[in-house]
Amino acid sequence: MSRTVYVNGNYVPEEDAKVSVFDRGFLFADGVYEVTSVLQGKLIDFDGHAVRLQRSLSELDMKNPVTKDELLEIHRELVRANDIDEGLVYLQITRGAADRDFAFPEDAEPTIVLFTQAKPGLADSPKAKQGMKVISIEDQRWGRRDIKTVQLLYPSMGKMMAKAAGADDAWMVEDGFVTEGTSNNAYIVKGNTIITRHLGNEILHGITRAAVLKFAREAQMKVEERAFTMEEALQADEAFVTSASAFVMPVVEIDGNPIGKGAPGSVAYRLREIYLDESLKKAV
Ligand code: PDD
Repeated sequence: MSRTVYVNGNYVPEEDAKVSVFDRGFLFADGVYEVTSVLQGKLIDFDGHAVRLQRSLSELDMKNPVTKDELLEIHRELVRANDIDEGLVYLQITRGAADRDFAFPEDAEPTIVLFTQAKPGLADSPKAKQGMKVISIEDQRWGRRDIKTVQLLYPSMGKMMAKAAGADDAWMVEDGFVTEGTSNNAYIVKGNTIITRHLGNEILHGITRAAVLKFAREAQMKVEERAFTMEEALQADEAFVTSASAFVMPVVEIDGNPIGKGAPGSVAYRLREIYLDESLKKAV
């Protein structure tokens, strides 16, 4: 069945959705995006995503074509029109269409596109019970990973490297320290301490990360925001990742080595439960 998607002010069937071949998102990856999850037909942490979207746009001197209220309305309308109970809303804003030139155009109107993806079983995921296998790869992305741009070629290559190695994902390593997963933030647990890389330009400031760390602290768990090495990860009791599409997802194997008992750990399990419960309470 055809989805209803949103393009520059209009709700249209996906076959009729069109963007110019001169769009700078297409030619230069000159665009930013957000992915917001939907549970029980409601948006999880919409505010956090809207705030990060504005930050990404500002860092790139890009115009926002919609207000936060309009954006919420578009998200809700797409969830309704496509009857999404569990799934995702993808949003992309680019600098717009202009004759090809490296310099930013002065008068281009931004392009805005949103679509939904139905993902039944997102919350009650079999992967969450089984755990993920990851491999380590060198982080070869650009230096402003805090901006959520659509330049996702290296993360895509990383996913393919993982797939070729029989794993689910890759953790990226720079100067000996883990940055993050290809599309998620990375954590290890040692004793009763949760360790995840500090914020900076080297990683995306995950919206799920912020919520999970807040819940962990409220539950009296110890949190250290600092860089960790792959050696430290291999000695950890547990590992996990967070993202809007995976929530809290245990990692049970790194580069073929079991982490802890080689099964999902209790900290990841508990954080996933708390995250799902608490975020659903505030879902819009
Ligand atoms: N990815 N780090 C990277 C590189 C990411 O691409 C993502 C999200 C995250 C987690 O951020 P958040 O918790 O705000 O989703 C961290 C999304 C889900 C994606 O590209 O599909």
